Amino acid sequence: MAATLETLEDLLELQLKDLYSAENQLIKALPLMASSAKDEQLRQSFETHLAETEQQVARLEQIGQAMELELGGHTCAAMKGLITEGQETMSEDASDAVMDAALIAAAQRIEHYEIAGYGTAVNYAESLGYDEAAALLRQTLEEEQLTDTKLNDLAKSYINQRAL
Ligand SMILES: [Fe+2]
Ligand SMILES: [Fe+2]
Repeated sequence: MAATLETLEDLLELQLKDLYSAENQLIKALPLMASSAKDEQLRQSFETHLAETEQQVARLEQIGQAMELELGGHTCAAMKGLITEGQETMSEDASDAVMDAALIAAAQRIEHYEIAGYGTAVNYAESLGYDEAAALLRQTLEEEQLTDTKLNDLAKSYINQRAL
């Protein structure tokens, strides 16, 4: 049964559940993305982000405990779709250089989705006066932004060029 959304607090709870599902799905998907990357720096950036993503789940659990929320039991359909697209990319018969560029394209879509989600959650937590939750969510938001920037830098510094 769908939850009743009457207040911004209800909406924050739903957003946190969505992020929790998204992050847990990503933890399962990132190892395959790392092993599909041919470029060493790209592979490392996926592995680093896997470790960060595990911390991000722990932060959400910390928030859930503080707010007495059960974050499980919801599926983020958008992340499911983004991961499906990533899997389609990985099953393509692509040259090594093009596969690396395509993996970055898939990963940046995922990061942008997370940035939107965490940006919203930070704003809601601030509006509701949940300062500790807002600080934890902002920490994750900054990690997602940094990951996106790193991927963008890899693409623009040599990966896209190599795929020409
Ligand atoms: Fe994340
Ligand atoms: Fe991320």
